[in-house]
Amino acid sequence: MGEIIDGKQFAERLRAEIGRQVVRLREEHLVTPGLAVILVGEDPASQVYVRNKARQAREATMASFEYRLPYGVPQETLLELIERLNGDPAVHGILVQLPLPPQVDAGQVINAIRPDKDIDGFHPVNVGSLTTGGDGTVPCTPLGCLMLLKHRLGDLSGLKAVVLGRSNIVGKPMAALLLRENCTVTLAHSKTRDLADECRRADILVAAVGRPRMIPGDWIKPGATVIDVGINRIDTPDGKGRLVGDVDFDSAVEAAGAITPVPGGVGPMTIACLLLNTLEAACRQHGLPVPAGLMEAAWG
Ligand code: GUN
Repeated sequence: MGEIIDGKQFAERLRAEIGRQVVRLREEHLVTPGLAVILVGEDPASQVYVRNKARQAREATMASFEYRLPYGVPQETLLELIERLNGDPAVHGILVQLPLPPQVDAGQVINAIRPDKDIDGFHPVNVGSLTTGGDGTVPCTPLGCLMLLKHRLGDLSGLKAVVLGRSNIVGKPMAALLLRENCTVTLAHSKTRDLADECRRADILVAAVGRPRMIPGDWIKPGATVIDVGINRIDTPDGKGRLVGDVDFDSAVEAAGAITPVPGGVGPMTIACLLLNTLEAACRQHGLPVPAGLMEAAWG
């Protein structure tokens, strides 16, 4: 039976470290990192995410600005808001919650965010930086996954990593990050042939496909480290529903050396990394050194 990686606890410790750095920044440099979150429409899952992001920013004593726009908002209105936030010195990070409604071109919206305020790491400047070895912002979910992997495995050099799912938010940046860590990376997706065999060769398996319990335990190499990014709500007989990952946890935990649970694995790390990206953005925008060693301090 594999170790269950406690992302919730690690994220709590990381947020506490970030909170200490926020206090230091304010006391020593009179800078309070500010995060602006924009939500368009009333998608229930997005509302929960946005509420949690804003609450945890406040708990870390950052300034939190929330903007809720109606589902039918014209693209121009959204672009004008971003332009205003780009020029607001109290705002160091801008996050537009995805997905966006169909009348809005998500690519244009992301392009409008100033790259140094793009704490999601979705702007082409930051995407390019990740793939060319620069020090731009790294997307929060892949960064959180990488921290959990390093915590468990230390040096990742030479390990075979399989990333399932090729989204811009998780799969592609995750593959780029693992490559940067000297893994041998396979980016698998719905058209991949012999998916089970690909998975069975993986020392590191990152699942980000959005299909409940798609990956059974017998796809997992004995002793592998499994990171489950999926958050899928399934029906239950009592009508309440429940969250499950992309991996069938009960069978996978038997084969894996370590595995993240859902909930309580990757999810909490995503928000902690969002706060970390906001803190770093504030430091850079004020010409201050970016605090080092927060991840290691959180490991204890
Ligand atoms: N929707 C789902 N995940 C994310 C994320 O990491 N950032 C944003 N902006 N929207 C999302």
